[in-house]
Amino acid sequence: MTTRDKVREALGRVIDPASGKDLISAGRIKGLTVDGDTVRFVIEVDPVRANAMEPLRKAAEQAVMALPDVAHVAAVLTAHSAEGNAPPPSRAPDGAIPDLGLKPKAPVAPEKSLPDGVKSIIAIASGKGGVGKSTVTANLAVALAARGKRVGILDADVYGPSQPRMMGVSGRPSSPDGNTILPLRNHGVTLMSLGLMTGESEAIVWRGPMLMGALQQMLGQVAWGKLDVLLVDLPPGTGDVQMTLSQKTPLSGAIVVSTPQDIALIDARKGIDMFQRMDVPILGLVENMATFVCDECGKEHHPFGHGGARAEAEKLGVPLLAEIPLDLAVRVASDSGAPVVVQNPEGPEAKAFWALAEAIEKTGVFG
Ligand SMILES: Nc1ncnc2c1ncn2[C@@H]1O[C@H](COP(=O)(O)OP(=O)(O)OP(=O)(O)O)[C@@H](O)[C@H]1O
Ligand SMILES: [Mg+2]
Repeated sequence: MTTRDKVREALGRVIDPASGKDLISAGRIKGLTVDGDTVRFVIEVDPVRANAMEPLRKAAEQAVMALPDVAHVAAVLTAHSAEGNAPPPSRAPDGAIPDLGLKPKAPVAPEKSLPDGVKSIIAIASGKGGVGKSTVTANLAVALAARGKRVGILDADVYGPSQPRMMGVSGRPSSPDGNTILPLRNHGVTLMSLGLMTGESEAIVWRGPMLMGALQQMLGQVAWGKLDVLLVDLPPGTGDVQMTLSQKTPLSGAIVVSTPQDIALIDARKGIDMFQRMDVPILGLVENMATFVCDECGKEHHPFGHGGARAEAEKLGVPLLAEIPLDLAVRVASDSGAPVVVQNPEGPEAKAFWALAEAIEKTGVFG
């Protein structure tokens, strides 16, 4: 019996007191993933009952945790709006963004729908942290904007939001009507980040339902205006944010960023696998930090190996969208609040990002 089967069996013994049915036969468990000794899943619940479902979530987590092969469990609640004609919740659910006091729109979790005015959403993901997702997102956004697209960035990296710094915006977005958040804009790109709501150095502990509520508010209650594409800069890995986004939003595709070493590629494969299981099209792989040209000797070096991403892309049958060199100018530009594509558009460092923008357009994702 696989761990996955054992998890399903354990969840089959957890009864939802409201319906009297177990979680499996009630069809409440979605997005179950087993990753080594880590198990993640989503429990779909009626939005009106979301707050009352926390004990059920805990019971499900404990039941899975009791299995011998399992060391970590992440069970999250999602509010599923299709169940009956439930009235809107009378008080802010756990998902309300702290401090801003926004009133959540009802229903809390609209079925897979694009935010008003947004034509497509592309997720930028990676299995491993620090491989350059945020750098790729920022440069791709400004490159697409310069090529005439209306572009937004949603920084969904709640654990380490970096877009405000990379895109050179700061300050708290306002919400004059208490319902809609006005995003910020710089370098021709509309930007919203959870980092802007919380401050760069302020750590918050995000619990599952709160995280999902915040993500949904970012998608549904930000006045994005008319966008051809909203790029979502994800945290690393295949956790709650990725799952919620793939489940709640009709993603046009995902771009997976990886460095060339084996370990990063193994992690990238996991990311690709998750999106495929969620029926999200993989637009392609981006290999970052592949080559390094030495200032002193002028020779090309491959600090993290070479060719790994191309071989992997071929094996997986997905396009290799770009090979981005490791270049000090890329980092310095990002740190200064103007991506290298803005700072030195004609320079050699920007070339790979322009090529990436062109490759994305060629995938046909913009119709
Ligand atoms: N091609 C590159 N050349 C030089 N520096 C780079 C390059 N790509 C990324 N960096 C630098 O590497 C660091 C990590 O990049 P970035 O923050 O984009 O990664 P990430 O995948 O978003 O990380 P996290 O997983 O923490 O969100 C940053 O300091 C960034 O400026
Ligand atoms: Mg990042």
